[in-house]
Amino acid sequence: MRHFKGGRIVYRATLKHLLISGRVPSRPVCKSSSHTPRRPFSLGDPALLEASVTAEIDCGDVGVLPGFVTEDESESLLVEIRRTLRGKRYLYNHWDGAIEGYRETEKPVWGEANPPVIHRLKQVAEDAGGEDVRALDEVHVLDLANDGFIRPHIDSIKFCGDVIAGLSLVSECVMVFQHEDDSTKWIRALLPPLSIYIMRGRVRHNYTHAVPLTGEESGFKGQTVSREQRVSVISRTRPPQHHNHTSH
Ligand code: OGA
Ligand code: MN
Repeated sequence: MRHFKGGRIVYRATLKHLLISGRVPSRPVCKSSSHTPRRPFSLGDPALLEASVTAEIDCGDVGVLPGFVTEDESESLLVEIRRTLRGKRYLYNHWDGAIEGYRETEKPVWGEANPPVIHRLKQVAEDAGGEDVRALDEVHVLDLANDGFIRPHIDSIKFCGDVIAGLSLVSECVMVFQHEDDSTKWIRALLPPLSIYIMRGRVRHNYTHAVPLTGEESGFKGQTVSREQRVSVISRTRPPQHHNHTSH
């Protein structure tokens, strides 16, 4: 499967690795989708975003929608996710990976009451991408342990298109976006359980994203946000070269 390399999912690499391997151009790379008109999407609740003055201009490319799923839908997803991940250990890469303390899987097929929710999530990603933009068939499930965290990174443009939409479950967390070339530009998003976030365009391509542990880095509007286990279900759009292919 294209998304696996040595048994690992390789959506992301740390920024350092991406820069060394030259996969992140230092110029803005929003071009891939600038031809396709985008339907405007509701940015959700602006109270869930905080940005530096210089980053405000990029806030149209990121948003958090609270209450995207109900408690019942969340519970039903978690039952299936726990069953799928049962027996998998949490992985700790120590210094070389983008993520510490996590289990993950790619899930193309869902059962029970879950397919409509997954469909809605993919629809949000596609709508945020514009016409002809399709989501990958499989969604990515990432389970971060209480002490797990995500280092700043940019998802590989090889495996992921212009939009990333992620549902947050179990505990709230902060996602930190930092412009790769301009340290004055940062955006923070508070991600309550049941919410989804969307990143696209400049924020997806030119900002790193990270989910820190509880501590200084996890602050939102001056308050520390405590994080525990957090599960995300992520839909990504297909990279542009995949747009003309259907995988079924
Ligand atoms: C990733 C990632 C974010 C999330 O897996 O590349 O950034 O919401 N995940 O879990
Ligand atoms: Mn990522």
